[in-house]
Amino acid sequence: MAGGVGSRFWPKSRNSFPKQFIDILGTGKSLLQMTAERFCSFIDKDKIHIVTNKDYNGLVAQQLPYLPMQNIIGEPARNNTAPCIAYAAFKLYQQNPDAIMVIVPSDHLIIKETAYAEKIQQAIDFAKNKDALITLGIQPTRPDTGYGYIQFEEDAISTDIYKVLSFKEKPSKEKAMVYLETGQYLWNAGMFIWKASTIMAAFKELTPEIYHLFVEGQSAYNTEKEAAFIQEKYPLAPNISIDFAIMEKAKNVYTIPADIGWSDLGTWNSLHDVYNEKDENNNAAILKNIYMTNSEGCLINASDSKLVVVNGLKDFIVVDDDNVLLIYPKNKEQEIKETTIQLKNKG
Ligand code: GDD
Ligand code: MG
Repeated sequence: MAGGVGSRFWPKSRNSFPKQFIDILGTGKSLLQMTAERFCSFIDKDKIHIVTNKDYNGLVAQQLPYLPMQNIIGEPARNNTAPCIAYAAFKLYQQNPDAIMVIVPSDHLIIKETAYAEKIQQAIDFAKNKDALITLGIQPTRPDTGYGYIQFEEDAISTDIYKVLSFKEKPSKEKAMVYLETGQYLWNAGMFIWKASTIMAAFKELTPEIYHLFVEGQSAYNTEKEAAFIQEKYPLAPNISIDFAIMEKAKNVYTIPADIGWSDLGTWNSLHDVYNEKDENNNAAILKNIYMTNSEGCLINASDSKLVVVNGLKDFIVVDDDNVLLIYPKNKEQEIKETTIQLKNKG
């Protein structure tokens, strides 16, 4: 899934060039490229599909030139992840109802790649034989309100696989704190594994308006009629995430706890957390040309061609990008999204 906008990563992440296409870690590769490569080691390249907004089809093709063109699936509207996944599921189902889908965000960091591949394989094996909706679960470390929380049954039903009792998407701070204290919850990593037929049945039962919209195109998928059908119908799909549309309501959800060095690179702070070249004062300077004194806990991101001099700064985010310079206190970073909205309104 590579159709999000990443607004909390402004100004590096823009509508015209969202964060999944950016080399945000300074590795020489974008998050999308890193995500695709993670799978290339154990899945045929021609089985990797990217679902994105059609405005980004060109960017995807440029960044992943080894993918067949028909594997880049463009959406004509921004309707969140439920329609995105439904569309992909219908296309795949038409080719093979038993096909296993491994659905992952394009903008996450995974450090323990071998452990990750093992967990994915384990989920695939489980999904083959059961109509299960599987999600990878992450040990929570703070009452973050940006994640889904998974409450799981104490006893594993198979090695390291647990039945999910309830799924709560983006709870309030108060609820998140309670979930954290009970020790019975994991974070939803936003990575899902299931058969195409299993998720189709879930859409049919739990979100029939999405099911009926896409089922109408049954004879069009993977033919020359698909583009016209999607152009006309896709924008009519409700704007809802898979978490609210399916995961909160379904009864056949399972989780595999995964210690995989995971980070949803959702905000500048999360990047600061995972950046492993911080100096002795906990500064992450994502540029080569910096002269920093008497400063701590900062994240500085600018182009290598600019010399940046910083003195006496504590816990700030400084991001220099073409025509925008952002200087923001780290503890207010959730407000960046709101700031971008206000700026848009101001014109
Ligand atoms: N194709 C497509 N179309 N992709 C989309 C769309 C869309 O309309 N909207 C979002 N995406 C992509 C994003 O680019 C990202 O890779 C992924 O889908 C997830 O969307 P986010 O918007 O980043 O979701 P979130 O972070 O708020 O919440 C999800 O992930 C959390 C973990 O990071 C949920 O699944 C939470 O439950 C989960 O904890
Ligand atoms: Mg996210």
